[in-house]
Amino acid sequence: MIVTIDGVAASGKSSVAGGVARALGMPYVSSGLLYRAATLLALEAGTDLGDAPALLQLLERSPLRLEPLPEGNAVFLAGPQGERDLTADAHTGEVDAGVSALAQLPELRGWVNARLRALTPPFVAEGRDMGTAVFPGASAKFFLTASPRVRALRRVKERLDDVDAVEAALIARDAKDRQQSQPAADAHRIDTSELDLPGVIAAVLAELERSGLKP
Ligand code: DC
Repeated sequence: MIVTIDGVAASGKSSVAGGVARALGMPYVSSGLLYRAATLLALEAGTDLGDAPALLQLLERSPLRLEPLPEGNAVFLAGPQGERDLTADAHTGEVDAGVSALAQLPELRGWVNARLRALTPPFVAEGRDMGTAVFPGASAKFFLTASPRVRALRRVKERLDDVDAVEAALIARDAKDRQQSQPAADAHRIDTSELDLPGVIAAVLAELERSGLKP
């Protein structure tokens, strides 16, 4: 069984996917973390975020490992001194600002998607296009939205930034990500603006139960 949870930036996808995966007793997979790790490596190497061949070359010599655990995903880079945990560095403002450029390249989307399709179900897959491009045959699909203001307030709580600046950055990223962030026709849409995290998780689990998918 594969459950997909897509949605706009800061709509709570990772936390919801983690909670749903825990309730179902399966791991969740963060596709965004692969885009973020690739962006981090490119920024560190000084590789142009629009240069697909150079990025693919960089990724070929940078063995990344995504660890999909129910409590959160981590991403590691193998090196001569052992593995380096890239997870925290993949969530900086610099990576936020650069990742959409890299994620627009079809070659890079292919690189991420091949990694995701190689994973063995069952799992909950979280991202932008899990229910459309990557796992169109998923057992159940969800698409999370929330108003830009609510999303900015959630991010500010996490990082103690200025809410207007964060809201503006989110709106800009929504515009850049729009093409690959469309809900699947058969996705259940959930507006999380007025819901807290347990409320969203409960809504997803209730839908899975209605569909006979929750044990
Ligand atoms: O979900 P996130 O904010 O961690 O994702 C980081 C970026 O990666 C986001 O700006 C859009 C991109 N992304 C994507 O294009 N497709 C996905 N399936 C997941 C993420």
